Amino acid sequence: MLKPPFAPEVEHFYANVIDENARLSSSADGRLELLRTQELLRRHLPAPPARVLDVGGGTGVHARWLVADGYDVELIDPVARHVEQAAEVCAASLGDARQLAAPDSTYDVVQVLGPLYHLPDAKDRQEALSEARRVVKPGGLVAAAAINRYASLFEHVTYAHLHTDRLRDSIASILRTAVYDGKRGFTLAYFHRAEELAMELRGAGLVDVHVYGIEGPAWSALKAVEQQSGAEPSDDLFNSVLTAARLAEPYPELLAASSHLLAVGRAPEM
Ligand SMILES: C[S@@+](CC[C@H](N)C(=O)[O-])C[C@H]1O[C@@H](n2cnc3c(N)ncnc32)[C@H](O)[C@@H]1O
Repeated sequence: MLKPPFAPEVEHFYANVIDENARLSSSADGRLELLRTQELLRRHLPAPPARVLDVGGGTGVHARWLVADGYDVELIDPVARHVEQAAEVCAASLGDARQLAAPDSTYDVVQVLGPLYHLPDAKDRQEALSEARRVVKPGGLVAAAAINRYASLFEHVTYAHLHTDRLRDSIASILRTAVYDGKRGFTLAYFHRAEELAMELRGAGLVDVHVYGIEGPAWSALKAVEQQSGAEPSDDLFNSVLTAARLAEPYPELLAASSHLLAVGRAPEM
């Protein structure tokens, strides 16, 4: 079978423009994303050892702590540079979320933390989630991350340029269409509403679906300090923002303010 075509602008972005390996350690909101992803996933993961497939796992940033926790992790990613780096962490190979090589019911956990960001076509996202559901065992966990529909609104306030004509128009277009065309800065991207992400997991046949705000409602305070003063946010500010993310969890209306969303669901038992 032919592999689905992988967007050349996304390939170029990860191969040549950004260092994905540093994304979750080089900024305070990145460190918050990593810490909260860990704490949310650990709530749902089965006890180690268990087989985890990390789809779109990048350079293995999440694979690294999962391996340290005792999980047997395999990673796939369409970007050769990522696969080379990830191979130092776990078994890693080239692949696409929409067409996984694994047989049905292979893994205890399948995580899709990134591919949905770059699949603006609903059919592609459905294929990616259906593939995750296919290769996870009955009762197994599927976790999928998305960029929040409103994240760019909050983010561009922190750069203090949202009021300029170009940014105002560009962000208005993302808010209206949910798609960024990837012409400048970031690459081709899709921005989810929380209820839409939950619907997509249910549409792939997953049950017990729940959506969390990864960074919570106050992450942009961290980014504003970094961007406007160039200084590291204080530990007190970091811990307050983290506390806000935890306190916000029971209130779905606050999901709209998080930068990323994490949805978890289970494959039905046979
Ligand atoms: C923002 S990075 C996230 C990396 C890592 N999973 C994390 O959460 O830090 C997005 C990742 O998705 C990968 N990706 C993009 N489109 C994909 C697709 N169709 N199938 C699998 N992975 C894809 C990219 O190559 C990149 O490594």
